[in-house]
Amino acid sequence: MTKVAIGCDHGGIVLKDAVVSTLTDLGAEIVDFGTMTDQSVDYPEFGLKVAEAAAEGKCDLGVVMCGTGIGISISANKVPGVRCALVTNEFMATATKNHNNANVLALGGRVLTPDEAKALVKVWYTAEYEGGRHQKRLDMITAIEKKYMK
Ligand code: RB5
Repeated sequence: MTKVAIGCDHGGIVLKDAVVSTLTDLGAEIVDFGTMTDQSVDYPEFGLKVAEAAAEGKCDLGVVMCGTGIGISISANKVPGVRCALVTNEFMATATKNHNNANVLALGGRVLTPDEAKALVKVWYTAEYEGGRHQKRLDMITAIEKKYMK
């Protein structure tokens, strides 16, 4: 069963139920790293938890959410091995799996409605990485990570 790590701040929590139910309906197992309420919290904490779970293989994929999706995607992308994509339409959500093999999806709770988020999660989760010419580019991203790793 595919395990999906979920994390959000107070700005993203409005999308969490929709995202979790969509993934559950698609057969995924959810690991919820919080936050659990709409009290103000700091998005890097939740981006890090999801990113580490995906990078270390404890989960296969992740979905992160904050108000815009920007701060939590920036945070997740600091973890080597994570390719976190912030998407706002179905073309981006599909293409980022096809081409970037994005293992973490980022969504904005102040940008998308829950129904829009459901559609984006569904196409990203069900799309497949195409490999081929795209692998060389992912290898180049990994080389950048290695260059700056201490
Ligand atoms: C929190 O107010 C907000 O800054 C956060 O959810 C996110 O939009 C940051 O990028």
